[in-house]
Amino acid sequence: MSENQVPAIELKNVHKTFGHRKILRGVNFSVRKGETMVLLGPSGTGKSVSLKHITGLVVPDIGDCLINGQSISHSKEKIKKQLRGRMGVMFQSGALINWLTVYENVALPLREHKLAKGKELDRIVTEKLGWLDLLPAKDNFPADISGGMKKRAGIARALTTNPEILLYDEPTSGLDPVMSNVFNELILRLKKELGVTSIVVTHDMESAYMIADRISFIYEGEIIFCGTVTDIKNTSNQVVQQFINGRTHGPMILDHSKKKK
Ligand SMILES: Nc1ncnc2c1ncn2[C@@H]1O[C@H](COP(=O)(O)OP(=O)(O)OP(=O)(O)O)[C@@H](O)[C@H]1O
Ligand SMILES: [Mg+2]
Repeated sequence: MSENQVPAIELKNVHKTFGHRKILRGVNFSVRKGETMVLLGPSGTGKSVSLKHITGLVVPDIGDCLINGQSISHSKEKIKKQLRGRMGVMFQSGALINWLTVYENVALPLREHKLAKGKELDRIVTEKLGWLDLLPAKDNFPADISGGMKKRAGIARALTTNPEILLYDEPTSGLDPVMSNVFNELILRLKKELGVTSIVVTHDMESAYMIADRISFIYEGEIIFCGTVTDIKNTSNQVVQQFINGRTHGPMILDHSKKKK
């Protein structure tokens, strides 16, 4: 790939404060077209907030987020919607609508953006439900399915519009190993066959190593590491090492009391 190519996603010096709490302190990272970037970091360090900036739902206090070179942060709502239309987003909470069946939840983006109806809509929704092994649950309501099934419905919904960009917030948490693997294979296939660009926030190191082209590590609102799977395994950064090896005793990572003001 050409080094000069415009990145699919770019965060430039993104700062965000909520109330008195500085959450992002100048986040910089870019994702190349067709790349899978895994975003790692301890709880509460701004991973989900970073994804929300990319969708344009959260606007930075300072800095910018670009999609294919175009600012989503500082554009009018119409442009934001257009850019968001190219993304499939799976929020951490799942965000299923309780009064709609699994089928209708997955069909929602197609209906909302008037992208398909009738037999075509049914074909697309049935295909995505099949990929995530959800056909037996298609007529159930979210309250009547397991946590892992909700997660899978969130993934199926993110895929319905055949997006160029996929953002997943902890897709494999709560999935059993078989379904986690289905997800990993899906990400690899979407990248290989359709050239999809993805950001995957996860704590699942096995999944990260399997799907990532590169891994970024966010800590106290800054990206403190970015590199390949080999790079991260060999990093001398103590915080990153401690996190990826799952050690609970370490010099820094639990020292959240020492928050910078
Ligand atoms: N809209 C908001 N208003 C106020 N504070 C917020 C808002 N959104 C996020 N925060 C705070 O920002 C911090 C970072 O949140 P974020 O959800 O990005 O963490 P995370 O890295 O995704 O953590 P986890 O791994 O637990 O999901 C948290 O302390 C959270 O409470
Ligand atoms: Mg989160």
